[in-house]
Amino acid sequence: MKGIILAGGAGSRLYPLTLVASKQLQPVYDKPMIYYPFTTLLEGGVREFCLISTPQDLPRFRQLLGDGSRFGVTIDYREQARPEGIAQAFRIADSFIGQDPVTLILGDNIFWGGDVFTRAFGEFKTGATIFGYHVLDPERYGVVEFDSTGKAVSIEEKPKQPKSNYAVPGLYIYDNQIVSIARDLKPGARGELEITDVNLEYLRRGRLQVCRLERGFAWLDAGTSSSLHEASAYVQTIEKRQGIKIGCPEEAAFRSGILSLAQFETVVNAMPNCEYRAYLEGAVAEAKRR
Ligand code: DAU
Repeated sequence: MKGIILAGGAGSRLYPLTLVASKQLQPVYDKPMIYYPFTTLLEGGVREFCLISTPQDLPRFRQLLGDGSRFGVTIDYREQARPEGIAQAFRIADSFIGQDPVTLILGDNIFWGGDVFTRAFGEFKTGATIFGYHVLDPERYGVVEFDSTGKAVSIEEKPKQPKSNYAVPGLYIYDNQIVSIARDLKPGARGELEITDVNLEYLRRGRLQVCRLERGFAWLDAGTSSSLHEASAYVQTIEKRQGIKIGCPEEAAFRSGILSLAQFETVVNAMPNCEYRAYLEGAVAEAKRR
């Protein structure tokens, strides 16, 4: 499974924070926002990444994540010249996708809890798998409607009168048909290549699976000043209470077997003295005791 992280867009809702650094580079408590979706895919076993951002911001992502070797993965960087829609990512990344299935995650989506995505990646064969998450304000998202048997029957992008409270989070899994579906897609009412239109095409073909994310699973949106602050507060609460970190890609790479203990230790030893390093040194010491 290949992985695309989409981290472009204008970030206008976070102005003036985004005058000097893009939204996905803003801190969410103790690390850059992009670390969280990157970690979600690493935990799911993705090893080949394509990171898409604006021409201005791409060099900063490269500076942050490098060629991926620090995490035992590869990262291919591609420009999105203008924000012409989430589904444009598949056109930009088509040579990266090649013949493989692919997952796309939005760079401002933070997920926490359980192993639902890891299982979904492992079990995925064909078609498309997306998710549904119960929210109070579904009109801000893509909204999925289910019939009485739990089967998805419609999806609407930001409907004024939502047919359910189930929003579609920004993590999508597609088979290789995505390449031709994205190629044939026409811009929607907003003038963008809509991800909801991709999902509708899979639904029309009878190839869309929608998994409901259960209670106890957290999906945080960090796209506005208040949701960014709330996401930071959430991460801080869990980290302080449990003494574990959320969205720590080095640790995820080690725990999912991508980095050996020796490689993990080398990565940690190259970090400056800081609380992040101290946490990872703890993980190294714990692994050595086992
Ligand atoms: O967060 C989940 C929601 O994401 C879904 O429920 C919606 O169906 C989907 O359309 C999307 O809605 P948003 O209103 O959040 O989309 P937005 O335009 O804000 O873009 C989401 C992220 O993707 C944002 O961080 C910027 C990035 N992006 C967006 C576009 C349109 C790009 O990098 N390039 C783009 O062309």
